[in-house]
Amino acid sequence: MTISVLVVCLGNICRSPMGEAVLRNEALKRGITDIHVDSAGTAAAHIGEDPDERTIEVCGTKDVPISHSARQVRASDFTSFDYILAADGSNLRALERHVGHREGSKATVKLWGSYLPDNKPIQDPYYGGLDGFKEVYEQCVKLSNAFLDEVAGKES
Ligand code: 4NP
Repeated sequence: MTISVLVVCLGNICRSPMGEAVLRNEALKRGITDIHVDSAGTAAAHIGEDPDERTIEVCGTKDVPISHSARQVRASDFTSFDYILAADGSNLRALERHVGHREGSKATVKLWGSYLPDNKPIQDPYYGGLDGFKEVYEQCVKLSNAFLDEVAGKES
């Protein structure tokens, strides 16, 4: 059975498109092909934009393919995705307040960081330098593997 995962941050240009690309890549490295991964933002400010150039740069240096056009979370995401993974607590709360979540949701909505014991948010790197984006990348690799460890097998 194919599992579907939506990674969510604020603008959908820094963390979540990187998380989407990394999760898809880590799944592929494990030979997992029955997974659908997408990303979205809780805010509308960057709709239609490519990922931030720093996100593209870090993915490029790691040979992780990335291609995404920013979009906002919509009500139908809560019925079409199995998992919706929030980058931080503020985005998790926005998801929990979303009309799609309140009016019947099949998705498991969680902080992505909750798949590791330290339960850490992915900090917003937007106003910082490239190092912040490198940290987000490393965190996305760890969280992708923690997520895949937990769900692989469960859904088959
Ligand atoms: P993201 O980063 O939520 O990881 O995509 C941000 C992108 C844009 C803004 C904030 C965070 N902004 O304020 O425009």
